[in-house]
Amino acid sequence: MKKSLEEHATRFDEIASEYDDDGSEEYRACANLVIEHAAPEDDDVVLDLGAGTGAIALALAPDADRVVGRDISEGMLERARTKAAEAGLDNVAFDQGRFRDPNHAGEVDIVTSNFAMHHLSDGEKREAISVIAGLEPRKFVLGDVMFFGEPDPAVPFYSPEVDDPATVGTLADAFTDAGFSLTAVERVHEQVGVLVAERTPSHGPDGDGPEATDDE
Ligand SMILES: C[S@@+](CC[C@H](N)C(=O)[O-])C[C@H]1O[C@@H](n2cnc3c(N)ncnc32)[C@H](O)[C@@H]1O
Repeated sequence: MKKSLEEHATRFDEIASEYDDDGSEEYRACANLVIEHAAPEDDDVVLDLGAGTGAIALALAPDADRVVGRDISEGMLERARTKAAEAGLDNVAFDQGRFRDPNHAGEVDIVTSNFAMHHLSDGEKREAISVIAGLEPRKFVLGDVMFFGEPDPAVPFYSPEVDDPATVGTLADAFTDAGFSLTAVERVHEQVGVLVAERTPSHGPDGDGPEATDDE
């Protein structure tokens, strides 16, 4: 990681009040695709990592049973809580948590993350994806800065001093190694995309193994 967790948290604390005023066309397209692919059912628990001011968590809350937002910046979290209260959403909770230690015990059906994981080094992303797989969600929707081709630091989505995006191939390998299958790849820009990774939870409806099929 090019900056420490504390440095990232401080940087986002400082911009939390203006964060929602900005946002490129590609950021918005990416966020919309994450929301669209997450598509929770009304009994789903969603965990949104790097939740920031709640762009994804607040959009999913009306359709989900419960949404849990986690971030390292108290300033961003406070803004997200204010927005949830203003929207009258009482099934969403925001608290401290990080990719490799999400601070969430209990069931998770869908994990989402938008424009946040690129702050981790590739090794840390791999570790985070493995931790997330251990929570046994059926789906992980990752929208982020990621390289579809050769990295070009001169274009807008890549600031080498604070960002450490992975190639799509590196992320795909990390997902498959953690037991996910990649079921959709959306290219928003040559440095921005959305990956949908799905896995079969090890617990069936009765909680003790995959559901038996007729031909078993
Ligand atoms: C660019 S914002 C994106 C926020 C939100 N997901 C959105 O789509 O607007 C990145 C967020 O990631 C958070 N972040 C950075 N590193 C993190 C980590 N290791 N664990 C959890 N959150 C992290 C930052 O504090 C910041 O709120």
